[in-house]
Amino acid sequence: MEVVTTPAAMQEQAIALRAAGQKIGLVPTMGWFHEGHLSLMRKAMEEADRVIVTLFVNPMQFAVGEDLDKYPHDLDRDCALAEKEGVDILYAPAAKDMYGTDFKTVIHVGGLSSGLCGADRPGHFDGVTTVVAKLFHQTLPHLAVFGEKDFQQLAVIRQMVTDLDFPIEIIGHPIVREKSGLAMSSRNSYLQHDEMAAALSLSQGIEYAKDISASGAVASVEHIKEGIRKIILKHPQCAIDYVEIVDALTLKPSVVFSQNSVLLLAVKINQRVRLIDNTLLGYSEK
Ligand code: PAF
Repeated sequence: MEVVTTPAAMQEQAIALRAAGQKIGLVPTMGWFHEGHLSLMRKAMEEADRVIVTLFVNPMQFAVGEDLDKYPHDLDRDCALAEKEGVDILYAPAAKDMYGTDFKTVIHVGGLSSGLCGADRPGHFDGVTTVVAKLFHQTLPHLAVFGEKDFQQLAVIRQMVTDLDFPIEIIGHPIVREKSGLAMSSRNSYLQHDEMAAALSLSQGIEYAKDISASGAVASVEHIKEGIRKIILKHPQCAIDYVEIVDALTLKPSVVFSQNSVLLLAVKINQRVRLIDNTLLGYSEK
């Protein structure tokens, strides 16, 4: 596996791969790989001839006071994991090379990026779309694989790709969970032992909603959201950012369930660790 560190060297390599007729698959990440990331790499390897994994903790998507400075980082550890998976190139640029000293462009996807995580983290998705557009130009992929755990991020990126005519197939890949049910995330490394029960309340809320939808029982959107809030707020360490049931395409709140309803959760544990989770409910109210 080759490690590339500058945008110019990366783009040169990508142009050469394309000239050699290779189909490029991209997995954009911020590193501290876990099984969820590795599953995205495997998916990209199934779909493409060459796989590029990017590792860049993007300052532009963190607000002041968020966890940019403590985001877990270990390049050697991540290199070893990516190499073991058979990744061809790990692209790990420095912030100074990504943004230079006079960067002025922002890509803003209207509507989809403003609610949910966008409301709790103003400017976050502008940082995501701007860096993802840059990564696309630097790595020239035919396809890119993103985790469905960041459901809103995936919707925002799909919209950007459509609106800006990127000739790139966007593939969403399912959430990978710990045996306990906890959705895998690099931020789980912030959790202390005595915060685990609180963290598990997100996946317990999801199971509760799935059980109701699978049983075919008639329940209102409000009833299910209230049930989930109760499960989460049993833990005094939890503060809810949102518990929402929305349409998977528009991200607008569902008033009644449809086959496209998705449950999205964001919860802060001890005001320190922000966790998100989601599930498609695929349930129609009769
Ligand atoms: O999901 C992430 O890890 C990041 O938001 C991404 C897509 C790599 C952009 O920095």
